[in-house]
Amino acid sequence: MSENNPFPNENNTGHFWDDNLRELSNDPPGWWRIGFHASWIFCIIYFILYPALPTLSGYTTGTLGWTQVGEYNEDLAAIDQVRSKWEDQINDPNVTAAMIVADDELRNYTIRSAKVLFGDYCSACHGAGGAGNAAMSVSESGYPVLADDDWLYGGTIEQIQTTITNGRKGIMTPYGARLSAEEIDDLAQHVVALSEGGEHAAGKALFMEPTKGGCFACHGMDAKGMSALGSANLTDVVWRFSPGGLESARHTITHGVNGELMDPQSRNAVMPAFGPLGKNLSEGTIKKLAVYVHQLGGGQ
Ligand code: HEC
Ligand code: HEC
Repeated sequence: MSENNPFPNENNTGHFWDDNLRELSNDPPGWWRIGFHASWIFCIIYFILYPALPTLSGYTTGTLGWTQVGEYNEDLAAIDQVRSKWEDQINDPNVTAAMIVADDELRNYTIRSAKVLFGDYCSACHGAGGAGNAAMSVSESGYPVLADDDWLYGGTIEQIQTTITNGRKGIMTPYGARLSAEEIDDLAQHVVALSEGGEHAAGKALFMEPTKGGCFACHGMDAKGMSALGSANLTDVVWRFSPGGLESARHTITHGVNGELMDPQSRNAVMPAFGPLGKNLSEGTIKKLAVYVHQLGGGQ
């Protein structure tokens, strides 16, 4: 091939095919060489400055001392600094939950940060966003909705904070052993009638008779309940023990609530304590949760 090289002056290798196709040995273009040298120089500088090569016992750390974890921690510290402005106020014992509610910026921060706390500590029982967990059958008790304006123990920010700190255990004695089935039925009918704005004469008499029902002692003369006892308001359409109605009322009256020592079928309705007597969350955390529950819908 090389004997009849048609381009004797070119920097070629002497390889030709089909007369016109030839292999040259020119230097690569300038831009390519600059790129090539820049990239290996970059590699060496990078390897010196940053963690790069695995070694038997770990890796080369680089002269800058940079690590991913370090960068992450720096970011966290920056976030903490932004947060501490709010956190310091919330954790200050002189700042009450009511004061947090009254301060727009502080309240908004608190609600956002409490959302995660609620998911961690509360939603297993009270459902996402406090939507409650309905009982699946008459004998189950379910968990109350927190996102409405119906409260067993009161919906002021202070009452909600007390509920979360100390827990709650409303007690209703079982009537199964004390009253006849007919009397219990009359009472259940009365309770259902109350929730529909009416009443049931025989049931009402038992409700008001101390030696029989004596229900008024806890539920009040007007049957509207007392927040100090957590005795449900019987005159509204909201049932603590869903689905409500006759069967459910009969079950509650017969077996009572949290009276398992007197009746093993008694309803179980205990709100656990999250303060020093229970899970021992910090006061600031409990304030956050109280503010969050308070704004869910029905804070008073
Ligand atoms: C183990 C289940 C459980 C967990 C966890 C739980 N609760 Fe409760 N909570 C209950 C029950 C049951 C009641 C109702 C008690 C009753 O019927 O007397 C209740 C009642 C309440 C009430 C009172 C509602 C009213 O109508 O007055 C509030 C407020 C409340 N819970 C908030 C919380 C918050 C906030 C958390 C998380 C920190 C939480 N609960 C975690 C079971 C739970
Ligand atoms: C010792 C106080 C006490 C007495 C007496 C009492 N109750 Fe209750 N009752 C409660 C409490 C507390 C609750 C709410 C329980 C809870 O949610 O933890 C309740 C709940 C109920 C409920 C369930 C309401 C709902 O929304 O699901 C019904 C029904 C009821 N009571 C009817 C009666 C009747 C009828 C009598 C009289 C025969 C009576 N109670 C006597 C304390 C009492």
